[in-house]
Amino acid sequence: MDNYSTDKISYGRLHNFSAGPAALPKEVLEIAQRELLSFNGSGISIMEVSHRGKLFDRVHTEALENFRTLLNIPSDYAVLFMQGGAIAQNSLIPLNLLSKNQNACYAVTGSWSNKSVIEAKRYGNITIACEQKPYLSVPDFNTWDIPQHSEYLHICTNETIDGIEFVDLSALKSKLNGKYIISDMSSHILSRQINIDDYGVIYAGAQKNIGPSGLTIAIVRKNLLNQAMPACPISLNWNNVYQNNSMYNTPPTFAIYIAGLVFKWLLNKGAVQTIEKENIAKSQKLYTCIDKSSLYKNNIDKNYRSRMNIPFKLNDESLNPQFLEQAELNNLVGLKGHKSVGGMRASLYNAVSLESVEKLIDFMQKFENSN
Ligand SMILES: Cc1ncc(COP(=O)(O)O)c(C=O)c1O
Repeated sequence: MDNYSTDKISYGRLHNFSAGPAALPKEVLEIAQRELLSFNGSGISIMEVSHRGKLFDRVHTEALENFRTLLNIPSDYAVLFMQGGAIAQNSLIPLNLLSKNQNACYAVTGSWSNKSVIEAKRYGNITIACEQKPYLSVPDFNTWDIPQHSEYLHICTNETIDGIEFVDLSALKSKLNGKYIISDMSSHILSRQINIDDYGVIYAGAQKNIGPSGLTIAIVRKNLLNQAMPACPISLNWNNVYQNNSMYNTPPTFAIYIAGLVFKWLLNKGAVQTIEKENIAKSQKLYTCIDKSSLYKNNIDKNYRSRMNIPFKLNDESLNPQFLEQAELNNLVGLKGHKSVGGMRASLYNAVSLESVEKLIDFMQKFENSN
């Protein structure tokens, strides 16, 4: 421990608004700490055992089952524990789906969905369903162009960088003609109730609401498991991953273990419906603070403001360094906005408590009064 300052570790935790890797529930970290050297009294760490042995098998199965319970995932969907992050899925989606028909359609509603398009273009003929810059709203669904020949429509339902979220897809239904929606839910999965049946594939990197980085979860409708291009890597072929219970190659065992603890924590709290209420309360408080202030502003269309990622700018940008410095002195960290948009961003994931949000609001008001 010589190289580490133990002050913060011993005396309390920071209020962490990082966009990801992000805050994890303290209770989860405490359990992991207790169990680190000897998992379940076994005399060995969960990191040190075979992924095919009894100890890990139980951890893996429980995590999978609890995840299915939390999101109410029907039996005609496979849940895959993978690696490579959400960005790997940007390549794996076309690789796993475009063997017969190379056409797909992408909605560009922010920085992450834009990145998905760039990657997908390496594998298929990609058309753009909608795009409207700067990313401040979701283009009217009636204007979306979804060509008949597209294999699927890809969307990102929570744009982490821009702070745009949309979940009501009913206006798209008449335009889909049987095509499946594929959504990148990296930054809002498990934060609100969703209807899995609305999607063909949902994917998410773990490092926001699920657990530590290293794990990527894909929820895939089983009838979409057999459409991979021959070039799709075997360890990342959805069907192969499914047939091998996510253990074709060594899975990220520690990340799955922590994710499993997060799922239990969430179930104990009252599951997604309870955390959704908390997330509404937290985000409303912060948006109200921003909207009432004359120093801070958030320009996102109020119909599509994200509950998870709240970017805001200071009217006087020269105050940015001071804001961040003073926030840190108040134990508020992870507030610097993404470099592509600047300003600030507060990410209010599941593990960020209402108390942390209130501390942030209190600081923001005091900072405004003194500037
Ligand atoms: C919406 C979204 N998609 C994709 C990514 C990239 O995820 P990864 O770094 O796990 O590949 C992120 C990461 O922050 C994200 O927020």
